[in-house]
Amino acid sequence: MAEQEGSIVRVPLQSLDTYDGVVAEDVTSPEGALLLPQGLRLSLLGASLPKVLDRLRSSGVEGISIRMETSVSLKSVDSFLEVVLAQNQAVIDREVSREAVSQVQGLFQSVRRQPMTPELLVPLVATGKTLAQEILKNPQVLLSLARVHRWDEYTFVHSFNVAALAGFLAQRLHPQEPDLVEQIVLGGLLHDLGKAQVPLEVLNKPGPLDDREFALMKQHSAWGEELALQGEVTSAPIRAVIRWHHERWTGCGYPDGLRREEIPEAARITAVADVFDALTAERAYKQSLPSRDAMNLILGDTGQHFDPRASRTLLTSFGLYPPGSIVELSDRSVGVVVSAGGEDLIRPVVLIQVTPEGTAPESPLFRDLRRCDLRIRNYLGSGARRDL
Ligand SMILES: [Fe+2]
Repeated sequence: MAEQEGSIVRVPLQSLDTYDGVVAEDVTSPEGALLLPQGLRLSLLGASLPKVLDRLRSSGVEGISIRMETSVSLKSVDSFLEVVLAQNQAVIDREVSREAVSQVQGLFQSVRRQPMTPELLVPLVATGKTLAQEILKNPQVLLSLARVHRWDEYTFVHSFNVAALAGFLAQRLHPQEPDLVEQIVLGGLLHDLGKAQVPLEVLNKPGPLDDREFALMKQHSAWGEELALQGEVTSAPIRAVIRWHHERWTGCGYPDGLRREEIPEAARITAVADVFDALTAERAYKQSLPSRDAMNLILGDTGQHFDPRASRTLLTSFGLYPPGSIVELSDRSVGVVVSAGGEDLIRPVVLIQVTPEGTAPESPLFRDLRRCDLRIRNYLGSGARRDL
């Protein structure tokens, strides 16, 4: 980019995605609503940029003034989150995450080639236990969901995310039952095992499935339980998660049409985690939904699809501003939510990215909104997931 650092340039909306810099002055609608705050770093908008652009266009904005800044080393939410993750012990160890994803993948590949045996499960069970320990150590849900890099690795990354999230929810619902949490984590890692028997062209189809393909796909929960039996999995919660994670609270799920408490709790918890991750993941044929929107959809479906206790736990775990939300505070600083504020839904912990003066903080600056006078003024979008 040719512009000099510190200079202010007027950028037409259609070229905004090619610029990095800081919004030089508040952008408002003709009615005076704040559309983009001064000081916002454009790269923080990440995947929300198209939506923000739509909003600006529909408000008649044609261009905005950007102050070019290239000296800040934290160029994007991703690299920014690297700092957050490095500073927070309370996040799942990256090695454990990687290990879990690659072992789920290894297991799926083995099951496609050879009959299921108990030995095939040994490495994944060991990593699953370590993952459960990580979750039990962490009282807060922090950014831990992993992103999918390649279209064909979705199932494995998704299995890890479901295991982690279901484990977090189980821990909050049953803090005195670490064994149950562990079983649910293992169940999450294995919940889609039956997909190892779904033809690859159906499993990895980069688009919505037709009726025949969907009928095949729906077999995976029953097939998964058969595989678990062949692998001599005796734990009732693990088997329940595998067989019944697609059952629905009102009884219109599959494979058995169980309803309400007939569905074992481990499967009800996993159902919430499963749908949350599916909604927020990026797929070849759909954009990811910001976690806040996914949470709203799940809450809207509570009592239909989901067990109300399990989905309420999701809300109180994430707060109204889930980790990764980009927010503007009342002093006009902008940051990323790094931790929901426990039961306090509107006052999370925010890591400041842009100070009220429009500069990057010299050292990482955390604001716990339960412990200071600041409040959230504006929700600006959702940040990225983490790279494994
Ligand atoms: Fe499934």
